[in-house]
Amino acid sequence: MTYIAVPIAVKDYDSAAGQIRLAKELAADMVELRTDYSPSPVSRQIRELIALGHSVGLAVITTCRSSREGGLCSLPDKLRVDILCSAAADGADYIDCEYETFIQEDNGKKITDAIKNSHCRLILSAHNFAGPFENIADLYSKINSCCECIVKIAYKARHINDCFAAFDLQRRQNRQSIILCMGDDGLISRLLSPKFNAFLTFAGIDKSSGTAPGQPSIGDLNNIYHFRSINEHTELYGVIGEPVAHSMSPAVHNAAFAGAELNKLYLPLLVRGDRQGFYDFMDNILARPWLSFRGFSVTIPHKGHAIEYVIHKGEYVEDLTAKIGAANTLIIGANGRISAYNTDYSGAIDALLAAMGCGKSDLHQRKVAVFGAGGVSRAIVAALTDAACNVTIYNRTIEKAAMLAEEFLCRYAPIDKLAKDTPEIIINCTSVGMTPDIDRSPVPAGVIRANMTVFDTVYNPVETLLLRQAKAAGAKIVSGLDMFVNQAAEQYKLFTGRPADVELMRKMTAQLTI
Ligand code: ATR
Repeated sequence: MTYIAVPIAVKDYDSAAGQIRLAKELAADMVELRTDYSPSPVSRQIRELIALGHSVGLAVITTCRSSREGGLCSLPDKLRVDILCSAAADGADYIDCEYETFIQEDNGKKITDAIKNSHCRLILSAHNFAGPFENIADLYSKINSCCECIVKIAYKARHINDCFAAFDLQRRQNRQSIILCMGDDGLISRLLSPKFNAFLTFAGIDKSSGTAPGQPSIGDLNNIYHFRSINEHTELYGVIGEPVAHSMSPAVHNAAFAGAELNKLYLPLLVRGDRQGFYDFMDNILARPWLSFRGFSVTIPHKGHAIEYVIHKGEYVEDLTAKIGAANTLIIGANGRISAYNTDYSGAIDALLAAMGCGKSDLHQRKVAVFGAGGVSRAIVAALTDAACNVTIYNRTIEKAAMLAEEFLCRYAPIDKLAKDTPEIIINCTSVGMTPDIDRSPVPAGVIRANMTVFDTVYNPVETLLLRQAKAAGAKIVSGLDMFVNQAAEQYKLFTGRPADVELMRKMTAQLTI
């Protein structure tokens, strides 16, 4: 079992005590008393906080981190070691000392003597806030061989690809340890700790209360990632993009996996930068089949990179996905083979058909006005022309509309022609109307009629000005959320081979967009 430890910044007794009680309410297993947050840690106060932790049923780690390793304590090492020794005598279950401190002078002996006749265990730690350690395996064995301890190594991940060294190291160990990557790029190392049977992971009481960069909140660990259900057999999925922190996909897919009692976990995968970063990430995944990654959602800016990667590997790209030139879904088979799909277009068409109450064949020759000529527009135009709709593309930059129209053999026109064209369906594929631009609509006022269907691919906010205008005119409406849920449901089917619980996914997205 991997424990959830909540770090408590011990600034004064009352606030620390309040946080300990809150950590218990939030179902933590332990608290870490970060006594270095107090300008002059007082032994009596620490003793009382240890006792409070025990009285509410939490194990207690006591730490007095030096400023050299990211802590706030600038007291001499001797005094910090004394604080840890007192905490051991006062009942702390664990004390955490930096390896570099432990090996100086007689610090190690003092600490070993202090814990000798107690139940207290020693965590020996090393931190690098600048980046990965040069030789993490060597560092691990140095710490591990110096005494009986739980090894903790934490380093800053500058890119998600820096996490793989931590995974490789943990896979080789048969002892429980704590190997974490700090920063937003290291988040998956914290979420995956139960997959490696790590000793613990740290989580903040809320998103802003962590004591190291990149710590998730305990609420997210339990409610979004179902942390207690993760084990070495858990199959992994995730959304690759930059940014991904606000993506609804982890909450939606994890809820669907949990609802179906599948041992699968869906992660936010922040893959920064260019094509090479993406390629390296995929190579890292494919080189480690033991991580059991089985599939990905892909979002901005990697949809093009995803399809290029699969082609470069000589693997399967579904036909319409190849025509769109962008993949939003990758599947990795148990044999390591990859295939690329695009569920945006089917998600859009299904949402449209549901609102119109008709089948795909009924779209034949319907007049559709598509606003925008970017990536979203491309997927939707491909889907509509595939369904033999009569499509006209309108875009701020008319040259882009012309290029897209030429490729998919449809029409394009300047926006002021829209009123005369009298479309039956209007679809917004631009970002106009998206938060914070919520008072704008891409469609000129007065164009919308009651017999039209109006579809806005923007889902933030759920009810855009365009959809409000359409409702007021009596038109049928399709929201970006409908499309989001449909494309996620299609992905779920590709991930699991089973139909998704669409209602559950819809409920989840509705909760997230309140
Ligand atoms: P996506 O992949 O989400 O479609 P994109 O490729 O950047 O993103 O395309 C965004 C679309 O929104 C484009 O059609 C863009 O118009 P231009 O081609 O003229 O840039 C459109 N768009 C973005 N901001 C806009 C604005 N303020 N007014 C009108 N159109 C806008």
